[in-house]
Amino acid sequence: MAPRKIIIDTDPGQDDAVAILLALGSPEDVEVLGITAVAGNVPLDLTAKNACIICELAGKTDIPVFAGCDRPLGRDLVTAEHVHGKTGLDGPSLPAPVMAVQEQHAVDFLIDTVRAHDAGTVTVCPLGPLTNIATAFQHAPDIVEKVQQIVLMGGAYFEVGNITPAAEFNIYVDPEAADIVFKSGVDIVVMPLDVTHKALVTQPRNDAFRALGTPVGIAVAEMTDFFERFDKEKYGSAGAPLHDPCVTAYLIRPDLFTGRHINVEIETSSDLTMGMTVADWWRVTDRSANAMFIGDIDADGFFDLLTERLARL
Ligand code: BDR
Ligand code: CA
Repeated sequence: MAPRKIIIDTDPGQDDAVAILLALGSPEDVEVLGITAVAGNVPLDLTAKNACIICELAGKTDIPVFAGCDRPLGRDLVTAEHVHGKTGLDGPSLPAPVMAVQEQHAVDFLIDTVRAHDAGTVTVCPLGPLTNIATAFQHAPDIVEKVQQIVLMGGAYFEVGNITPAAEFNIYVDPEAADIVFKSGVDIVVMPLDVTHKALVTQPRNDAFRALGTPVGIAVAEMTDFFERFDKEKYGSAGAPLHDPCVTAYLIRPDLFTGRHINVEIETSSDLTMGMTVADWWRVTDRSANAMFIGDIDADGFFDLLTERLARL
């Protein structure tokens, strides 16, 4: 089967970086048409720069990187340096990129790329706030029905929130954008905290990354060393949750994941629960299903896949 064509929309972020590396190490499964950066974990200048750093680390300098929206649709930007550090990629010491960010705006690249391909052949993979995707849908409604699928990291049901008691970071940062995407009618697969909190980098798993002995393996281990302190302190978990790599792993091995096709609505008006993903997991309403909401993962299978693919870079 031909590799699936994807656009990765991202705010790197250590876990975004690992998600990108997994895709770049899997050319028989996914063809990365481009990487679009959005403001999220850190401001846009840093997320775009970090995307270039990761492409260079992988030796894939031919992947075009685009800078997109520098703030949410109607709010001030909330960032997460408390998790990812000042640069967004704290941990390893990686060289400043030589690669330049493309001139074209990420939203225009998204629109042009979907338009230029046959309907149902481009999948969009958002790993950060949904600002670029919602803006593209607002500017070019004709692309909505052409998108093959959106596979995104965001939201939570059983795990509730990680930035407020009710909301997950990516959705909280731009709930209006999330609302547009979830109401778009596109086939959506969601990787919420419910599943990403099961994809934990335990010590033996991080040792396996480091033991690859390559610049990629060592950088991923060092990113995890930095990134894990937040979740270990906050949740007492066994290691860093690899949120965003669940998205790219799903494209390669969907059989590692299970979930339910349910209705998911985004809270956009209550201050108390702003950005909550109101997921009808128990199907207690008659609202129509709009998303495959993933709940479980074969974590050992996921880490075997990740280690094998990182070893190729
Ligand atoms: C999400 O927020 C970011 O901090 C991570 O990169 C991930 O995309 C987890 O809530
Ligand atoms: Ca992210």
